[in-house]
Amino acid sequence: MDQLRFDGRVAVVTGAGGGLGKAYALLLGSRGAKVVVNDLGSARDGVGKSNFADAVVKEIKDKGGEAVADYNSVVEGEKIIKTALDNFGRIDILINNAGILRDKSFQKMSDQDWDLVHAVHLKGAFKTTQVAWETFKKQKFGRVIMTSSNAGLLGNFGQANYSAAKMGLVGLASTLSIEGAKYNIKVNTIVPTAASRLTEDILPPDMYQAMKPELIAPVVAYMSHESFEDSGLIIDSTLGFATKAHLIRSQGAPLRRKPTDPVTIESVKEKWGEVVNMNGARRIDKIAEVTVDLVEKLQEFEERSKLDTDRESYWATY
Ligand code: NAI
Repeated sequence: MDQLRFDGRVAVVTGAGGGLGKAYALLLGSRGAKVVVNDLGSARDGVGKSNFADAVVKEIKDKGGEAVADYNSVVEGEKIIKTALDNFGRIDILINNAGILRDKSFQKMSDQDWDLVHAVHLKGAFKTTQVAWETFKKQKFGRVIMTSSNAGLLGNFGQANYSAAKMGLVGLASTLSIEGAKYNIKVNTIVPTAASRLTEDILPPDMYQAMKPELIAPVVAYMSHESFEDSGLIIDSTLGFATKAHLIRSQGAPLRRKPTDPVTIESVKEKWGEVVNMNGARRIDKIAEVTVDLVEKLQEFEERSKLDTDRESYWATY
């Protein structure tokens, strides 16, 4: 296969001073993209500032690539996009990767722990993406990656703030993939698991060694390429493996015997096994399908009930 290149493309990678973002920036830089290496250079909990980004810029340049450092917080995402436009005159790819942790069990979580985690992950992605959106729409091209987490999709003890923000990013990506469709703006979500300072005390040591960010970077780079047509996907990747995740809905069940019966707490209890039975569960692709699906199910139920009633009254005459 021909090498997938990014020549002429400008990529912004937030939080690219270390960990996963660094691997994304290095890979894109090595394939011809001009890269804005953004990193506030904070500690893991979001406190402080430093110039982590410089070393990554140097590494890209030493290998013959083009890159510029940016030390703004994603909370001021407009400044990061301005760095791309001022230095390279355009922006094509935005990888929202910056992140912090402020893990606490729920009752001990302060407003600050909640607000800062939401500010960096969710508000940060909103700010950068909204400013880049204007250019993406005008040029009818854009590739956006959101970074979620299994802690968001599944929950994780001590990460209420982080889980909520990470699931928020999935919702943001879903809506933006719809709004971006006619402008060739593809918005997808990566769910990575990799060795970094965020996971150094969480992953077992031998797993930590094996979970190299470089194994995930090609997945993110492919999803950022101009040939990548999918949008609104959630892709989970680690250890050189990738899989797609999405929400599914059960077949469901009517909550009463006949359409004329009331729905009672007891009838809900009686039908609960059918409501949560996932046999035959399926993905609903568009919000419009949700209502259509329910209306169809209701019609089926009403027709079935009418047949039952007709049958009952037929037998009642004998
Ligand atoms: P990391 O700590 O090495 O990288 C995050 C970078 O974001 C840091 O260099 C940090 O300085 C920077 N940053 C923090 N606040 C910032 C701000 N306000 N503005 C700009 N930059 C800021 O951690 P890692 O693991 O590489 O994380 C990257 C992303 O992947 C994060 O969004 C994280 O939540 C997510 N993630 C990572 C997982 C893993 O297994 N490593 C698992 C699931 C999600």
